[in-house]
Amino acid sequence: MTAKILDGAALAQELRAGFKLRAEALAAQGTRPGLAVVLVGEDPASQVYVRNKVNACAQAGFHSEKIVLPVETTAADLLERIAALNADPAIHGILVQLPLPKHIDADAVLEAIAPEKDVDGFHAENLGALTQGKPRFIPCTPHGVMKLLEKGDVSLKGQEAVVIGRSNIVGKPMALLLLAAGATVTVCHSQTRDLAFHTRRADILVAAVGRPRFVTGDMIKPGAVVIDVGINRVPEDQPDAGKLCGDVDFASAREVASAITPVPGGVGPMTIAMLLANTLLAAERVAA
Ligand code: GUN
Repeated sequence: MTAKILDGAALAQELRAGFKLRAEALAAQGTRPGLAVVLVGEDPASQVYVRNKVNACAQAGFHSEKIVLPVETTAADLLERIAALNADPAIHGILVQLPLPKHIDADAVLEAIAPEKDVDGFHAENLGALTQGKPRFIPCTPHGVMKLLEKGDVSLKGQEAVVIGRSNIVGKPMALLLLAAGATVTVCHSQTRDLAFHTRRADILVAAVGRPRFVTGDMIKPGAVVIDVGINRVPEDQPDAGKLCGDVDFASAREVASAITPVPGGVGPMTIAMLLANTLLAAERVAA
């Protein structure tokens, strides 16, 4: 079997065209959706992600502000910036790019963002609402995965879903969304015994481990749907060293799975599309 490709780049483009129209309609009523993206330090991957987010805003006709702060910024300075953005009526969404430098308490920063502007959905209040099945904002990456599954007509009710990774950004909210959709969910992580035992039971397998080509074809149940959240560089000892790759070994996985997301062009573009969706939602709520 060669798996069907779940094309996140195409779906994201389609969704973004719709967001642009909604943004124009809102702007005609006097509200232009506005996103502030805050980056502390010079992490090269974060710089790329932030640039892509700001460019996506421009293409959709959103207002955006990129705030780049030096790595030595204090928590107090950052909190002051966030307070100003919370009070700024031109800004409907605030995203602080993670990871933050180690001297800053990331949880305290996320809690300082006004929950109604927390387009990442990382504030405790918003995670609580998500847990209760009444989300205000759905975290962008898992939300993008759900849209891809929907578009691919993947049924979830009663299915075995296995998530590898338990981060607050992906693994935990992903598990909650799959659970809410009726899947039976297992969350695996670095301390899981016999990972392959779990992954081989999965009808839907979501890999969010941050290790290049970690999930191989022999770990996948024939016919499973495989979602690859990883964005890694191919290690030096492999022929295509330096290229982008996922957490899944695409070549062996596609021979076993029924559907799979590529890297790049799978989940990554969907994360950005869902950030636009949440920002638009935040602006529409203010305008309503
Ligand atoms: N770093 C990696 N993914 C994300 C994300 O979705 N949001 C933020 N704020 N930082 C990230």
